[in-house]
Amino acid sequence: MFVLLNLKAYDCDPVAIAETTREVSEDSGVRIAVAPQSARLEAVAETGVETWAQHVAPVDHGSHTGSALADSAAAAGASGTLLNHSEKRRRLADIDGGLEAAERAGIVTVVCANNREQCKAVAAFGPDGIAIEPPALIGGQQSVSTADPDVVTEAVEAVGEIDDSIPVLCGAGISTGEDVESARDLGASGVLLASGVAKAEEPESVLRDLVAPVA
Ligand code: G3P
Repeated sequence: MFVLLNLKAYDCDPVAIAETTREVSEDSGVRIAVAPQSARLEAVAETGVETWAQHVAPVDHGSHTGSALADSAAAAGASGTLLNHSEKRRRLADIDGGLEAAERAGIVTVVCANNREQCKAVAAFGPDGIAIEPPALIGGQQSVSTADPDVVTEAVEAVGEIDDSIPVLCGAGISTGEDVESARDLGASGVLLASGVAKAEEPESVLRDLVAPVA
């Protein structure tokens, strides 16, 4: 199972979380990556944790003020990027362009989707992964794997109809090892989470609980 920790814009110490995440990943053997704010990518990558961008723009080098360039994320140490997160929703053409930019930069991709139809649409672009995340459950107390298990199984089936080599992650409300185990049992290859760790008093204990059932 792949655990992708999205720090969003939460008020947390990304370097401290990254150091803890690297230790938990090394101890457990579970692949865990951290996606900090773009300005902190290099500091997070220097901890040795697998580091991802939260978004990259569908552009190449040029006059694109304020754009998050995939090449810059890669140069800062990112090995992957999220695209089309429900809090950074993109048009279809921009998802395609973001995937092309990531490919040029040599970083892998997980594209977020709300439902099975969106999963099928983005699967056609051939991302390295797809994350199903019902927006209504994001940041909540109930995990998608318990509150809406069908959306996970339907997403796995939908992506499989297009390309069964694309792993499907699930996210929203994931915060315990039980949630991760349920996600795996529903056919997910990983989880996407944020507040369960970024807002935790003790991120290390949450992370160790998260990965225990799949270590
Ligand atoms: O990117 C993952 C995120 O959208 C899930 O948020 O706080 O429900 O884990 P959260």
